[in-house]
Parts: sequence; structure tokens; C-alpha cells
Amino acid sequence: MHQKIDLLIEKLLKDFNEVKTMQELNDLKVKYQGKKGVITELNSAIKDIPATEKKDYGMEVNRLRSAFNEGFENIKLRIEQELINKKLEEEKIDISLPSSKRKKGSKHPFYRVIEEVEDLFVSMGYDVVDGQELEDDEHCFRLLNYTKGHPARDAQDTFYIDSEYLLRTQTSAAQSRVMQANTKKGPIRVICPGKTYRRDDDATHSHQFGQVEGLVIDKNISLADLKGTLEIFAKKLLGEDTKVRFRPSYFPFTSPSCEVDVSCFKCGGKGCPLCKKTGWIELLGAGMVHPNVLRMGGYDPDLFTGFAFGTGLDRLAMFKYAIPDIRYLYTNDVRFLKQFDRKDEEYEIKY
Ligand code: PHE
Repeated sequence: MHQKIDLLIEKLLKDFNEVKTMQELNDLKVKYQGKKGVITELNSAIKDIPATEKKDYGMEVNRLRSAFNEGFENIKLRIEQELINKKLEEEKIDISLPSSKRKKGSKHPFYRVIEEVEDLFVSMGYDVVDGQELEDDEHCFRLLNYTKGHPARDAQDTFYIDSEYLLRTQTSAAQSRVMQANTKKGPIRVICPGKTYRRDDDATHSHQFGQVEGLVIDKNISLADLKGTLEIFAKKLLGEDTKVRFRPSYFPFTSPSCEVDVSCFKCGGKGCPLCKKTGWIELLGAGMVHPNVLRMGGYDPDLFTGFAFGTGLDRLAMFKYAIPDIRYLYTNDVRFLKQFDRKDEEYEIKY
């Protein structure tokens, strides 16, 4: 019997050695442990074995069974491992392949200008405030010295929501809000960039445009401070050679008021079509804060003075990047927009 089992185990190991797949392994299980399997049959034959040999016989059959079970587990593990390895091999990701290209957007010229203006004024100690696009008549006009029916309102026809609320026509509305919000009536130094709205539509004016407002209030602020500040502003933004000119003008909320021109960056001041042969280009409106406005904002005009200025952001972007039509700024043509993916120093703008 011992010899017989030795031979069977030898045969069994040979069988295991030839197994390659799970299917073949399962077939072997049937061959040895199935209903008519080798081990099953040896097991049922025990009834015919003489009582004295039964124990020895049983142990020998168990030896074969253990050999089978051990071999079965080992081969099963081997096949499973092979399957995992094969799967890993098949699903390997080749990270050396080039990835699909993502289209990268670039900063809109309008926001490039806003950031540049903000950086400049923040470096001079100004705060940036948001203001609000939906304003009421009081802050957009009345607190800025435009009484009801004031003729200067005519120049700023806009979109009224009802008889009191409107889309702000000027960031100057932020002036009245900032003064009101400063409950301690301390000094103010802010800029407010943002969108503004008017009922305009031609090649150089659109229904929506951007402005940046500046407001400074303190003791002993004079026109000299206004001039110095705006000169720095113009030179930093449009180049150190830029010349600045102040012309008298009128705004209800400033007195005296002025219009500020810069020397034409296309012709350098000689006169060309861009500057309509004058050598100058209008940049912004400004002035000393009107005493009425200070008073309505809660500031004593005998103690405080201030200056304010307001300029169009679209115009600034157009000047800076030689953009010929204001509509390019909001019609979202990618051929236009993708030109703004470089640093400022990398632009060589030729007028
Ligand atoms: N708000 C004025 C405008 O839109 C510009 C301005 C601002 C003038 C501040 C003076 C002071 O035309």
C-alpha cells in the first residue's frame, strides 16, 4: 500500500506540474476528489480492507489527500498570481506618452489694466473698494451734488430699475458710500474699479464700460497733490515720457474741476489721426471734492479737503494695447483674446 501511494503521489506531482490554467486545476480536483476520483474511490474501498490493516490504509489515503490539498493550494496561488501579473502588465500606463493638450485661457486686457492700476495705487497706500453696480439715485447723484433735474444728469442717461434704483453711471457713486461708511470721519484714500453703465452705443462708447474712481480726503489736501498723483499714474501706466496737461472742466461734485490729457503715445505729441492732430489724448476727469459733497458725506469742509478722479478702464486698455475698437473688449473673439497671454514687458506695441 505504501508503495502504491508513493506512486500515486509521484503521478499527482507530475499532474500538478502540467497544470497551466484554473480550468485544468479544477479538472484535476475532479480527477482526484470527484465522485469517481482516485482518492474518493480509495476512500470507499476501506470497507473491504481487513480490520487490522484499516488504520494503516486510512493513514496512507490521508497522506495522498494531504499531498493533493497542499499541491492544489500552491498551484492555485501560483495561477492567481500569474493572472494578476498579466493584468498589471496589460493595464500598464505609459507615462512617457504625450498628454492631450489643454487650452489655457489668458487674462482679459480689461482685468490686466485693473490689476496694474490696483498695484500702483496700493503701493501708494490706497485701499481698493468694490462699490455696487446697482445703485440708488441718492448715491449715484444726489449726494454728489446733482440735485433733482440737474442738467448734468442728462449726460448720464442710464438703465433705471425703478424710479429710485439704476445701474450706476459712474464709479463716483462709491465716493458717497465710502464717505458715509467712514463713521469716524477719518482720512480716506481709496480707488474703486468696476463696471458702469450708460445708454451709449457707438464705436468708442458702449452701454457697459469700466471706470476706476480715486478719492482722497484728509486735512491739507491740495490741487498739487492731485496733480502729482495723476502725473505718476499717467507715467507709470503709459510710459515715463508721457506728458500730462490739465484743462478746466465741470463736474457737479468737484470744484475746481479739470480734464486731464496725456501726450499722444502714437505721434509723441506731433499730431496724428489718433489724437485728431492735437497731440493730446483725453485721459480722465478730476477735481477737488466739492464742499457740498464733503458736507453731505459727513465731513466738515472747513477741516477737510480732498480730490477725486475717474477714468475709463476700457480706454486705458485700448491705449495700452493699441486696441482699435472698444467692442473687441466684450465680443469674446478668441483670436483677439489669445493675444493677451504674455507678460507686459513682452509686448512690443507699435502705433
Ligand atoms: N465720474 C466722472 C465721469 O464719469 C469722472 C470724474 C470722477 C470726474 C471723479 C471728477 C472726479 O465723467
